Amino acid sequence: MITLKTVRELRAAIARTRGEGKRIALVPTMGNLHAGHIALVEKARQRADFVVASIFVNPLQFGPAEDLDKYPRTLAADQEKLLEGGCNLLFAPSVEEMYPGGIQGQTRIAVSGVSEGLCGATRPGHFEGVATVVAKLFNIAQPDIALFGEKDFQQLAVIRTLVRDLNMPIQIFGEPTVRAADGLALSSRNGYLNDEQRSVAPALYRILCDTSAALQAGERDFARLCARGLEALQQAGFRPDYLEIREAASLRTASPEDRRLVVLGAAYLGNTRLIDNLSVELAGD
Ligand code: PAF
Repeated sequence: MITLKTVRELRAAIARTRGEGKRIALVPTMGNLHAGHIALVEKARQRADFVVASIFVNPLQFGPAEDLDKYPRTLAADQEKLLEGGCNLLFAPSVEEMYPGGIQGQTRIAVSGVSEGLCGATRPGHFEGVATVVAKLFNIAQPDIALFGEKDFQQLAVIRTLVRDLNMPIQIFGEPTVRAADGLALSSRNGYLNDEQRSVAPALYRILCDTSAALQAGERDFARLCARGLEALQQAGFRPDYLEIREAASLRTASPEDRRLVVLGAAYLGNTRLIDNLSVELAGD
């Protein structure tokens, strides 16, 4: 696996690979890789001939009060994991390389609709930062396909909308969330939890499972279900941000006729904000 740090080098490597007729996959990450990221790389290997991963802690998607400086940078360990996972090329640019004109004046992409509400409400500007960096990475690497984890369900919806609305010739794959044995979704943020918080954390998934089970059992009073979920989060020791039931493809507020739903939750343990979601397929009436 080679590691490249400049756009120029990456473009040259991509041109060579394309010249060999290879199908290229991109797995964008912010590093501090865990088994969920490596599962994306392994899936990418199955779906393409040449796997490019990127590691870039994107300042544009962090709010002023968020953990940009604290965000773990673990390049050497990440390189080893990527190599083991079968990645062919790592793109690890600097902030100056990605934003040569500075961050203030950077052209930004706002994906309306799906960026609003849920995490978009708590993290203003976050999805604009994500859409902008992902569009840049797509333009730089020009992959045939790109893979993202379903754990960041709203992010995935934003990226699918970005690609559709801007006619990008890239196929997007959302891959299932990888979980610890106790159900906690793998996330770089889990590293911020102390032992006590870590023991509480799996309750987020359990509460989403309970909400899903109630939907499967025929409950359709979404407001009541969400209120119950929020209450359960609080009881478990979280400071809840949201728990919502949405239509899975559009992310609009669900209505009782919808069959493909997603239950999404976000909640704090101390200063750490955890998110998770669960898709629910209801049988037709
Ligand atoms: O999910 C992430 O790690 C980031 O939001 C992404 C997609 C790599 C963009 O910086």
